[in-house]
Amino acid sequence: LLPLLFHWLGAKPRESGAKLRVGICSAGLGQEEYRLMISRSGISLEAGSREGLVRGASTLRQLAISGGSHLPLCEIDDGPRFSWRGFMLDTARNWFPVEFVERLIDAASLHKLNIFHWHFCDDQAWSIDLPGLPELAREGSFRLDRRYNEPVKRGGAYSAEDVRRIVGFAAERGIVVVPELEAPGHATALLASHPELSCVAAALRASPAGGAGGQSAARFEPEDSYGVFADVLCAGNDAAFALLERIVDGLVELFPGPYIHVGGDEVPKARWKECPACAARMRELGLSPGEEEALQPWFMGKMAAMLAKRGKRMIGWDEVLDPASDDDSARKLGGLPPDAVVMSWRGYEGGIVGARLGHDVVMCPYQAGCYLDYKQFDSPEEPGRPTVSTARDSYAFEPAPPGLAPELSARFIGGQANLWSEFMYSARQVEYMAFPRLCAISEALWSPDGSRDFEDFSRRLPSQLQRLDALGIRNYYKGPLC
Ligand code: ACM
Ligand code: ZN
Repeated sequence: LLPLLFHWLGAKPRESGAKLRVGICSAGLGQEEYRLMISRSGISLEAGSREGLVRGASTLRQLAISGGSHLPLCEIDDGPRFSWRGFMLDTARNWFPVEFVERLIDAASLHKLNIFHWHFCDDQAWSIDLPGLPELAREGSFRLDRRYNEPVKRGGAYSAEDVRRIVGFAAERGIVVVPELEAPGHATALLASHPELSCVAAALRASPAGGAGGQSAARFEPEDSYGVFADVLCAGNDAAFALLERIVDGLVELFPGPYIHVGGDEVPKARWKECPACAARMRELGLSPGEEEALQPWFMGKMAAMLAKRGKRMIGWDEVLDPASDDDSARKLGGLPPDAVVMSWRGYEGGIVGARLGHDVVMCPYQAGCYLDYKQFDSPEEPGRPTVSTARDSYAFEPAPPGLAPELSARFIGGQANLWSEFMYSARQVEYMAFPRLCAISEALWSPDGSRDFEDFSRRLPSQLQRLDALGIRNYYKGPLC
């Protein structure tokens, strides 16, 4: 940590004359808490863990950037309200350079965020070249964008080396990277290299004219439009799970963190309803025709088991709880392990149901200031999805719904901001959409309950923006905050 801290302070310790004391002490400091004292004789930073030291170092960095060559004399005892303070970047809808991903991680760490949720695959691209599975990125990382007279090839893939570099950069800054393997839906780019795992291919295999040759009629390429697509992984094909196992192995190799996100959102069941292999699977599971919905929690349960076998904890979008009644056939089939984490995006309901079922939950409801692809100001000239979600909304984001019993409240371990990149074609556009709303959300996730004051945030914002400038992020939104 020290070289990084000296870099951040812009000081050569020997020349400055002041003493710098940095150390881990176990005296009553929680996981990410730190104590920082700046006096005339020097700086003392202590914490109960390396994470705590990084948070304290980030405070020092903030003070150093804002103070120029001066640090203010102060005593700070600080710690986070929530343990999951995340941001998600989608590198499947559009691809961004490694240097930019690092710049975003750097800014996130300055704001004491601690999770980078990497949405690396979707219908439009598979953007990581996984060890041992070169076909996934080869066939899946570029799409043809046909909105132009001449189609434009769009996309890109991070090599294993790129990923290791990003994960290492994040780890130095106290940020854990959580890769998201989207399944069984949003899988078109995966089907581009493995069309045999589609239900269409299963139907061809079962048809009299099918067989191995007939499968070539099932062809996929990464989608060049946006939305939710019918073709998902076939739940009746054991080969789909065999491939997912190998993908998980690749992810385990590249991502040392405790979590793997398994997606699970927006899975249409139309293909499963028509597929002979899925029908056979349902018979095997004792499900009747029409109960296709129950295949999804069964599918998610299989993924959870794959992760558990490798010592990883599953997290998934709140659809992993569907269908959400207490006595559904899905739960009889196994469903989720108790330690699975639910990421609630469709609203607060998924989080509340998840908490009631005993799961930890991470909140990012799209209505609550967490979706940073929405416009940040109500004007036809403003870029972003037509819904308006202002910095004030992000600042007001409340991850734990009020009025819950304390044991349920404790299940709400944090929240995050999501940068879906359908309409962000360059790093500069991501900067514009991310900031200053990400500053606002980081405060919502860190500050003690009940301590936030939007007018105060607005007054402090200019110095926050000056710090973004110092990190090389200059294209942030500069309009009204609400
Ligand atoms: C999502 O926004 N589909 C998780
Ligand atoms: Zn199928």
